[in-house]
Amino acid sequence: MNNYKKKSNPISDNREYSQRGPRKFSKSDKFKSKEGFSGSDNKSSSQSGGKTGYFSKPFRKDNPTFGKKLDSNEKPRLRHREKSKESQEKRILSNEPVRLNKALADSGVASRRKADELITQGAVKVNGKVVTTLGVKVQADDFITVYGNPIPKIDKKIYFLLNKPKDIIVSTEDEKDRKTVMDIIKTNFRIFPVGRLDRNTTGALILTNDGELAHRLLHPSYQIPRTYIALLDKELKQTDADLISKGVPLEDGITSPCEVVIHPVNPRKVILTLFEGRNHEVKRIFMHLGYNVRQLDRKVFAGISVQRLERGEYRLLSKKEVNLLKKMVNIDF
Ligand code: URA
Repeated sequence: MNNYKKKSNPISDNREYSQRGPRKFSKSDKFKSKEGFSGSDNKSSSQSGGKTGYFSKPFRKDNPTFGKKLDSNEKPRLRHREKSKESQEKRILSNEPVRLNKALADSGVASRRKADELITQGAVKVNGKVVTTLGVKVQADDFITVYGNPIPKIDKKIYFLLNKPKDIIVSTEDEKDRKTVMDIIKTNFRIFPVGRLDRNTTGALILTNDGELAHRLLHPSYQIPRTYIALLDKELKQTDADLISKGVPLEDGITSPCEVVIHPVNPRKVILTLFEGRNHEVKRIFMHLGYNVRQLDRKVFAGISVQRLERGEYRLLSKKEVNLLKKMVNIDF
């Protein structure tokens, strides 16, 4: 069953991902959170149902699980498109030659048999030359078109927004084998988190394979805003809020000026917008003034808010959001 909640802003020019929306972290997964996730894990929905490349029907007959009843303990085998993507990724990384029909199948254009038909019909060009001979081998850096359209490549940039739950490590791997954010986001892309959130901090986290954008978003010179709601062990005094907003001396230097708002109804709650990203910064700022942070939730990172995502859910950023991020750090788009 597909547990996606489809959101209105998938990346519109990427049909492969256009069916994706937020995904719930599974209750049935190894990880058990106090935060009450719902739904079951969905390992294959990224490719489900949507138009895939040049043909509008999903490749059901190529799917080994199609028409078979799965034992509840049996792990569903990968769908054709997922296998293809893995295989394409490997091929691109190794740049080893593969048969043209396989390259076409891996990119999701057609099954190998259909690809052979396209080749013999003269629809396929490699580096600008029509290839009609079956069995020709190509490499990842060859430029392949079908009816003049370049076949999709996997070296695309991708951007996720996760509403991070508690007790999840923000890292690509964990030496103690604890759950990381990479266990939540199912993708073949080699993404990594943009910055850190502590294990018990929740909220907005961007993950991407765009190293340049990530690097700039974290660089202090761009003054990227991060808005947190902190729940303290006691009420924050206005005099302390004023000190924080001007900058407080920590062991790694004085913090940058920031915005501090004490919640009008609950003065233990503070809305804090920082413009730099030091390790454990919020906790250290409050600790410096004798407060303990009991809960910390990042509502917004670089103008991207998690307000429509439940904990453990994630979604792709829209093209508009990605462009806004790039604009903030002077990257052309
Ligand atoms: N500041 C902290 O103290 N912890 C976080 O996770 C993020 C900012």
